[in-house]
Amino acid sequence: MNESVKILGIAGSLRKGSYNRAALRSAQKLLPDSARMEIFELDGIPPFNQDLETQPPSAVSEMKSEIRSADAILFVTPEYNYSVPGVLKNAIDWASRPHGDNAWDGKPAAIMGASIGMFGTARAQYHLRQIFVYLNMYALNRPEVMIPSAADKFDATGNLVDEDTRKRIKELMLALTNWTLRLKYTQKKLAAA
Ligand code: FNR
Repeated sequence: MNESVKILGIAGSLRKGSYNRAALRSAQKLLPDSARMEIFELDGIPPFNQDLETQPPSAVSEMKSEIRSADAILFVTPEYNYSVPGVLKNAIDWASRPHGDNAWDGKPAAIMGASIGMFGTARAQYHLRQIFVYLNMYALNRPEVMIPSAADKFDATGNLVDEDTRKRIKELMLALTNWTLRLKYTQKKLAAA
């Protein structure tokens, strides 16, 4: 198969020196030849207001159209208080609304995350997987990329300097690409049946 897979990468941190944004930039450089990635930054997304869901702010409409034009999504999540940061959940909520216009519907998705603690965002990642159920996203199960002790894995300018983490992110990008192609192939087969 020589089809190119378009991945949209979203990190759940607005912090300039964010390890998760740095991990996302690293993933962009570790793609297989059959994939490309665009990054959507969440700093322009306002707090969710259901009064506006049918006529959302332009940044939200832009995000929804980027999601729709992507073949797959890579979420790079920090862990805040054992869960997904509000910034990421807020963006997820906007793009899932209004009812019947869920931009995430049917998208293949992978997760990774970096934390300064020992568990590398494991708890946040499992909460995100639970959210995928309602969104009807097709979560990639493995590999799981949890980056603990992030301060030791990136240099001062956000370059990933840990070889094992680089290898695992590369494996994740290959697995997401193959998962997306597999789902596309199945959908084509079903449509032709
Ligand atoms: C954290 N941090 C954190 N870390 C963790 O491993 N488990 C947790 O539950 C939390 N909780 C938490 C709550 C809040 C409000 C903040 C601000 C931080 C620490 C977190 O791992 C660290 O700040 C990371 O650097 C955040 O990711 P970015 O911004 O570097 O991408």
